[in-house]
Amino acid sequence: MERSLAIIKPDAVERGIVGRIISRIEKEKLKISAMKMVHLTKGEAGRFYYVHKDKIFFNDLIEYMSSGPIVVMVLAGEGIINKWRQIMGATDPAKAEEGTIRRIYGTDIQRNVVHGSDSSESVKFEVNFFFSELEVENGA
Ligand code: CMP
Repeated sequence: MERSLAIIKPDAVERGIVGRIISRIEKEKLKISAMKMVHLTKGEAGRFYYVHKDKIFFNDLIEYMSSGPIVVMVLAGEGIINKWRQIMGATDPAKAEEGTIRRIYGTDIQRNVVHGSDSSESVKFEVNFFFSELEVENGA
């Protein structure tokens, strides 16, 4: 079964919109196979986002991602990587389609509320980064 790693980012947790985002995930009938809240250190955020280490926004990104707790989830289902990306909308909330999570709740290109894996290669790394096999529901 295909998986995607989803994150509800610190700005969303801080603003108290975790419930609304999970509700949207359930309304869309996506399957949540694992979920927990964690507070990353800067080092951990840097390791998670290492693919962006040479980008100009890297330091701001890890500062932001370690600024407060986040909710991490494993979503599972056919075509889930693309499905979740469509429901999130484009990285920049201003460019995201009407009705997407980032368009509705996003503040700017950094504080864009949610994350989703962008490919099956990144899923493996991202799911293993946060979850052991024991924590992910069997078969998902
Ligand atoms: P995400 O999908 O989690 O992947 C990388 C994150 O870096 C992205 O969401 C944004 O939070 C952030 N990001 C991407 N592009 C920029 C940018 N141009 N300026 C600032 N932050 C960015």
